Amino acid sequence: MKPMVSRKRKHFHHIVRPRAHTHPTFVSDTYRLQPSPCTGRMLGGRYEILGLLDRGGSSEVYLAKDALGELPVIVKMLTEVAAADTQHRERFIVGARLTMALDHPAIVRVLSVETPFGAPPYMIMEALQGESLAQYLDRENTMSQSMTLALARQIASGLVAAHGAGIIHRDIKPANLFLLGPQGSPSGIKIIDFGLSKDLFSIVSGPASVNLVLGTAQYMAPEQVLADPIDGRTDIYAFGIVLFGMLTGVLPFDLNLGPDLFCHQLFSPAPPPSWLLEDIDCRLEQLILRCVRKHPDNRFDSMQSLLDELIAIESHPLARSNEVSVPLLRRHPDLYVPQNSEGRGVAQNLARFSRSGAATMHIPQLSDGLDDLLDVAEVEPMRERSGTRLSRR
Ligand SMILES: Nc1ncnc2c1ncn2[C@@H]1O[C@H](COP(=O)(O)OP(=O)(O)OP(=O)(O)O)[C@@H](O)[C@H]1O
Ligand SMILES: [Mg+2]
Repeated sequence: MKPMVSRKRKHFHHIVRPRAHTHPTFVSDTYRLQPSPCTGRMLGGRYEILGLLDRGGSSEVYLAKDALGELPVIVKMLTEVAAADTQHRERFIVGARLTMALDHPAIVRVLSVETPFGAPPYMIMEALQGESLAQYLDRENTMSQSMTLALARQIASGLVAAHGAGIIHRDIKPANLFLLGPQGSPSGIKIIDFGLSKDLFSIVSGPASVNLVLGTAQYMAPEQVLADPIDGRTDIYAFGIVLFGMLTGVLPFDLNLGPDLFCHQLFSPAPPPSWLLEDIDCRLEQLILRCVRKHPDNRFDSMQSLLDELIAIESHPLARSNEVSVPLLRRHPDLYVPQNSEGRGVAQNLARFSRSGAATMHIPQLSDGLDDLLDVAEVEPMRERSGTRLSRR
């Protein structure tokens, strides 16, 4: 592993140091705060903002002192612009409430959600110490197999709990996974940011149930690209892409593909990680490739069976290829079939306007029989193209 040299792009102006009169665990130089006009502001008569930790696309994350507690807390507040969009505001509140219902060591604890009148909503969370997996990978590029496996098991068990409660995260990616402990040698990981999560058991179709394309393009399963119904297997797809990136330092399909990225998520098989990483345990490779199959039926059927497989791999030494049996594809070939005419239209347009020659492809119709699907499989595969266009995260 490379030396732990921080190459953070952000310039941090202010480091909070422990204060003599506070609890020793209160604040330390773990938190690198940026000045903000909100510093010193009191929220709800209880939380004093100490400084800005991070600024996302639609929210700001602050470190705060809780007047009623000894530990620092995180305040995540929707920006005014995002809060003015009713759907966005609702999604934020729903995501926070869903997370509050989850109690698992691999899921960040949300303590409360506040919806002040005429002001952006905010949630109060436990303050984690460490860095996001995205920050880790920006610096280190890759992670060892053993560390990846140990952390993957924790993420998977967190997702088993979320899925068991009917909650799909929908935005699993390194920026939403938080490594706990010292930089470079994390002791654990927590899933954060359930901002796009969806409650499968909810009878009322909330804002996250509307047919919107939500998620992060490089991690989006085909059903998410087409705004088709999703389930736990959608998180399994994103989880597979995350593992691919952790081990190889690149993603199967990345932003430099431009709009073609969606096309690849729909039609291109992911390249085997062993193209980039020689000594990968072939069971781990199979596991990743199974996660990122196009048809959800060809992925693991649940996060629990994926977790079982991770535990089995972790508890036995490195496997050779001849010791591994490849699970049978339930749908052959591995094609995603759009669930409705809208999705079919989107897929057709993506293929038509693709710069990568996908215009020659047929889009499987709902009514197509197996023969038609097999025809599609004979269309020029995009594997070579995706392989040559592998790029850094
Ligand atoms: N509980 C926490 N403890 C410590 N740091 C946190 C915590 N929650 C978030 N952060 C930091 O803030 C960053 C952004 O958090 P988060 O992913 O929740 O919001 P976001 O993606 O910016 O929000 P949005 O997607 O709404 O724009 C994280 O990557 C992490 O560095
Ligand atoms: Mg996030």
